[in-house]
Amino acid sequence: MRRTVVITGASAGIGAEAAVALARRGDHVVLVGRNPDKLAAVVDRIRDDSGSTPDSHVCDFAALAEVRRTAGRIAAAYDVIDVLANNAGLIAKKQTSTVDGHDMTIQVNHLAPFLLTSLLLDRVTAAAAGRIITTSSAAHTSGWLDPDDLDFQRRRWARWRAYGDSKQANILFTTELTWRLRQTAVVATCFHPGVVRSDFGDSTGLFRLAKKLSPIGFVSPSQGASTLVQLAATEDGRGIPGAYFDSGRLARPTSRAVDPDLAERLWAVSGAMTAG
Ligand SMILES: NC(=O)c1ccc[n+]([C@@H]2O[C@H](COP(=O)([O-])OP(=O)(O)OC[C@H]3O[C@@H](n4cnc5c(N)ncnc54)[C@H](OP(=O)(O)O)[C@@H]3O)[C@@H](O)[C@H]2O)c1
Repeated sequence: MRRTVVITGASAGIGAEAAVALARRGDHVVLVGRNPDKLAAVVDRIRDDSGSTPDSHVCDFAALAEVRRTAGRIAAAYDVIDVLANNAGLIAKKQTSTVDGHDMTIQVNHLAPFLLTSLLLDRVTAAAAGRIITTSSAAHTSGWLDPDDLDFQRRRWARWRAYGDSKQANILFTTELTWRLRQTAVVATCFHPGVVRSDFGDSTGLFRLAKKLSPIGFVSPSQGASTLVQLAATEDGRGIPGAYFDSGRLARPTSRAVDPDLAERLWAVSGAMTAG
């Protein structure tokens, strides 16, 4: 039976490469991306490469109404989702508020995938062995998120601080999801893909410069996608609830990123912040 795999951030970088690889393995891939032209190019690439036609949805995570609309369309099209890969992400150049009034980095990297997952959860639990995979980062180690101030209204905003918080949130989300889904066959995992030579971080001068001047240490987008493909297509991570992988290997995140009380508080706050 052909699996259905939904991948966000599929219009570029890690998400696009993972989509190509999983389609090549025979999965039906459902691509979610922000830029329609880039998304269409990945659809064409997959059609040429594997002969199958992926489904695709344009959605800007900076607007929660778009996330709700996209979730509705995907839920209407698929009764069962075998893999949901929450991969879309960015690092905002300056402090920006979304139309929903939230910090841009926190919304795109955490609140939007939280909402998408909540709205598609019954489709993933309907699968025989569902998987929810979230692209986190080693940058979670700099995360000190405050569930009562996710939007940096009381704390000083800095771009890597907001990014670190959002990537810590990805792991806390996986921790709480694992607890909530303990009676189901769904496995939630997350990972750091390595430092990837994708479009990521091009808005920050330092990251762009590092990519240009010292390419050693950066891996290609397809190498970056390999952990996502591993968690989507092999048994790795299964049996290790809430597992965090770093470049293909099981790793230990910071204790702040797997704190069960913090995970529960973040879940409650995220639910309130994304309530329609
Ligand atoms: N690159 C690294 O070194 C690195 C390291 C650790 C973790 N990560 C994580 O890996 C994930 C993928 O990043 P990447 O390296 O593949 O970067 P990328 O090439 O910049 O791709 C990012 C993807 O996220 C999508 N995206 C960005 N903002 C969005 C928004 N507002 N709404 C919907 N989609 C949006 C982009 O869509 P469009 O292209 O259509 O705009 C694109 O598909 C991110 O979560 C990132 O935090 C990356």
